[in-house]
Amino acid sequence: MPVTPDRMTGRTVLITGGTGGIGKATAIGLAGLGARVGIVGRDPARGQAAADEISRRSGNPAVDAFAADLSCQAEVRRLAAAVLDTYPSLHVLVNNVGGFWAHRHLTVDGLEHTFAVNHLASFLLTDLLLDRLKAGAPARIVTVSSNAQALGRIDFDDLQGETSYSGPRAYNQSKLANVLFTYELARRLHGTAVTANVLHPGVVRTAFGAEDPSTLTRLARPLARFLKSPTQGAATSIYLASSAAVEGVTGQYFANRKPKRSNESAYDTGIANRLWLISGRLVVSPRGTAESAR
Ligand SMILES: NC(=O)c1ccc[n+]([C@@H]2O[C@H](COP(=O)([O-])OP(=O)(O)OC[C@H]3O[C@@H](n4cnc5c(N)ncnc54)[C@H](OP(=O)(O)O)[C@@H]3O)[C@@H](O)[C@H]2O)c1
Repeated sequence: MPVTPDRMTGRTVLITGGTGGIGKATAIGLAGLGARVGIVGRDPARGQAAADEISRRSGNPAVDAFAADLSCQAEVRRLAAAVLDTYPSLHVLVNNVGGFWAHRHLTVDGLEHTFAVNHLASFLLTDLLLDRLKAGAPARIVTVSSNAQALGRIDFDDLQGETSYSGPRAYNQSKLANVLFTYELARRLHGTAVTANVLHPGVVRTAFGAEDPSTLTRLARPLARFLKSPTQGAATSIYLASSAAVEGVTGQYFANRKPKRSNESAYDTGIANRLWLISGRLVVSPRGTAESAR
């Protein structure tokens, strides 16, 4: 029997990357369950258009658009301040933002783009919103990883891909970082009523990878119609954000709404702690530590 998520009336949810793809479908689902939903994307006009569409398709007018480029740490901090100003309570954070870039790009902070957007933005935003989530507990932090985490390795000697960059390697590493981050966060939140889980959404028909596609991405385009729809891809995010079936469940990796074993190295607390400490340094002083983050 399919698990039906519980109603979200009275709950406030923030979804990064909520203007398109899986994030927008997650927003439609959670708004449809009665939550007040904030979505984050880079462009204010695109964000407002997405918020209007989410309201229309969910029948819920309580949808807010926040504009921030999460590749830039000052923007992450500005976003967190705006969210704290707008929402007196926050119950769910969905760290959904992420993407694939075939070539190495640097952010305004001098960091490798994939690592900055896919991992550090979620790391920093979670930290900045954590007290508000704790105050609204029971609360949930849901992070969107990928099956690609299984192929990932955290290369502490070249975290920023300075020596050698490959799009798939950077993506796999960042998605493993999502899992390590979640497991470590769950350990650090032990004894609170805030849970942290991470998921693979499936292979989904979205704009994923379109900003800087690889040859493989281009070749795979005709296969898009065989992939999951965004609505199907949002199912596990919605489940983890809302279902009573996972109340109190924390520190788990999910796919198809079921807990699953992740990359074995994600269970290594030494790696998780090392990544946490380096990430902490990189969000305090990105330029000062980007090259010395070993
Ligand atoms: N699609 C798949 O098959 C698949 C498979 C496994 C995992 N995933 C994961 O699922 C998540 C969502 O992916 P998707 O497929 O839905 O991707 P998508 O269609 O490309 O959507 C990406 C979302 O992120 C936003 N975004 C991108 N860069 C941003 C930035 N610098 N600052 C703020 N917002 C930014 C985009 O908004 P704007 O363009 O409006 O800024 C958009 O809302 C990612 O974490 C991805 O790794 C996807």
